[in-house]
This record gives sequence, C-alpha cells and structure tokens, in this order.
Amino acid sequence: MIGDIDKKLLQKRFDASAGTYDKYAVVQKQMTHRLIARMRRSSAWKRISHQPGAKVLEIGSGTGYLTSFLIKELPDADVTAVDLSSAMIGLARQKVAPNTVHFVTADIEEMVLCDRYDLIVSNATFQWFNDFEGTVHKLISSLNTHGGMFFSTFAFGTFKELSDAFAQAQQRIGLSDLESFGPTFYHEEECLAKLNHGLSSLAGRFSIEYEIYDDVQCFSSVMDFLTSVKKIGANNSNTGALRIRPRLMREMISIYDQSHRLDGKITATYRPLLVDIVRN
Ligand SMILES: C[S@@+](CC[C@H](N)C(=O)[O-])C[C@H]1O[C@@H](n2cnc3c(N)ncnc32)[C@H](O)[C@@H]1O
Repeated sequence: MIGDIDKKLLQKRFDASAGTYDKYAVVQKQMTHRLIARMRRSSAWKRISHQPGAKVLEIGSGTGYLTSFLIKELPDADVTAVDLSSAMIGLARQKVAPNTVHFVTADIEEMVLCDRYDLIVSNATFQWFNDFEGTVHKLISSLNTHGGMFFSTFAFGTFKELSDAFAQAQQRIGLSDLESFGPTFYHEEECLAKLNHGLSSLAGRFSIEYEIYDDVQCFSSVMDFLTSVKKIGANNSNTGALRIRPRLMREMISIYDQSHRLDGKITATYRPLLVDIVRN
C-alpha cells in the first residue's frame, strides 16, 4: 500500500481481527493456493524439497494457513515464521505441531536478518511495507544461491470500485480538493521496477516471473464488503488517515450501490500480483 503505514495501528488491527480472519479471508486463501502452485513448479522448490535442514522464512504468517502447508510439504526444513501480530501468531501456533516452526513476533522491515535462506515466502503481506524496495532488497540479499523468494501482494486496481465511488461522492457534495480515501496500491509496473532496481545492486543473476489477475468478489451490500475488509484487519492504517465525514460516507455508499452491481450484488475487485524471484 502506498503511504506511511502506522505500524502500531496495523498491529492493533491485525491483533483485533485475528479471531475472524480465517472466516473472511477468501481472496487471501485463493492467493495462497496459487502461490503454492507456483512454488511447486519452480526449480528452487524441487531442490529444497529434498534438502534436509533447508532454511525457510515465511513473512506475515497470519493465522498459519500457508505455514501448515510448508511444514507438511517440507517436513525436514527449518521454518521461521514472522508476523507483526502476536494474536495472529497465537492462532498459527495452534495449527502446527509443537516445535515444528520457530515463530517470531516482529516487523520484518525492522528485523536484521543474520541467516541465509533457501526459500522466502509470503502471502498477502508486502502491501503493508513502508519501504517496499529496501525491504525486498534486504530479503533477496538473504537468499542462498539457487534460493527463491515467492510472494503475493495486492496491486493497483484492488478496490477500484471503492476509489471510484469515493471520487464521485466528493464531486457530488462539492469538495474541491479530491482526497484519496481507502487504501492505495502500487501499480504492477511500479512494483516490478522497484524489484528490478533493488536487484540491480546485488551480485549474481536473478530471474523474475510474475502473474497478475482480477478476483471479483460479490457482496450483498457495501456495508458487507466494508465489514469483510475490517474483519481481516485490512482497513486503512495509514498515518493521519483522513476521517470520513458521515455525509461523504453516505454518498459513497449510495454511488457504490448503484454503479457497481452484478446480479443483485455489489462487486469488489481484488488484483493479486504473484512474483517469483530465483537467485541463479
Ligand atoms: C493479510 S494478512 C495475511 C496472512 C497470511 N499470510 C495469509 O495469507 O492468510 C497479513 C499479515 O501480515 C502481517 N504483517 C503485516 N506487515 C508486517 C510486517 N512488516 N512484518 C511482519 N508481519 C507483517 C500482519 O500482522 C498479518 O498477519
């Protein structure tokens, strides 16, 4: 997400939503399955699945959906899972057998990585970074030769109906300086340019591959959609996020309701971007 994320607020939001996350994280679960399919096809995965003690780092492990897959598929690997939210980690711990994963409650952007990893993996988390380029650079620097980093994030176009409805609502009620409400995301090209820039200063050769797609979800109402965002902790956590006036909110909901309908439901677009980086 573009902007200055208030990490204390973000942590609070994820702590508060940990109990409802699994029920509402439909899009994130589908992303996990696509990410797993991409990893399974890669040479990095084939290599480490036969390598006892392979070092694996998961970032933003949440309630442990991907973590459980990692320990099942890589039973001999040494897996570390990092998450900002202790409540999320508490739930992830319950999904895995004791002592199979080393859990760390921390902000990956602040962590000093002393180890080198064969696999770095992350689902639906990098959009919360304040320094996307610097953090990705740090992570890729920690990859072993032939190691791979596989991540998914959300790209520009995610929640496009919400942005559109807010822009129209501001015009309708006569606000002259249009503000951006709701989260904003990097365009896929901007994201890839940042990755390439980060890689250019590193020794060695890397290959990057990616896929991007639209996942259009339907909800019975705009409030239902906004509730689902809140229940996974993904509401705006930018520093100084603008307070939304009740009139603007009412207008936005009415415009959204009329303009983005399909078969009697309202639509919300998510645009996941999945990236593989392999160090050759
Ligand atoms: C949308 S959830 C995704 C969780 C899980 N990967 C999944 O797909 O279900 C994002 C997770 O990333 C964590 N997170 C966000 N920013 C982080 C950071 N800078 N360092 C570590 N964890 C972070 C949040 O606490 C949250 O649990």
